[in-house]
Amino acid sequence: MPKLVFVEKDGNRKEVDAPVGLSVMEIAHRFDVDIEGACEGSLACATCHVIVDEGWYAKLGEPSEDEEDMLDLAFGLKPTSRLGCQIVMSDELDGLEVALPREVNNMLG
Ligand code: FES
Repeated sequence: MPKLVFVEKDGNRKEVDAPVGLSVMEIAHRFDVDIEGACEGSLACATCHVIVDEGWYAKLGEPSEDEEDMLDLAFGLKPTSRLGCQIVMSDELDGLEVALPREVNNMLG
């Protein structure tokens, strides 16, 4: 089974078995990783936002326009940001690494 690595907010790396066909968001839920996914993958929230490792980003293919629109609403957006519910595990993605965004408090800059 492919592996998926979550880099948690405190920098901790959590490597899990990632069943092919499940999204990064679904896998996070299965392993108690702190990704919300409020709309359960219907592209109606941005709470499943993850930051993909740079080396992996290009291998995922382009995000859809709907995903891009939703990402614009995500906090802590980075050039390699994606929505976790739109990344579906496959054997090719064995070793994929995604980081959880750190919460940014805009009031404090
Ligand atoms: Fe809502 Fe991914 S879970 S957009």
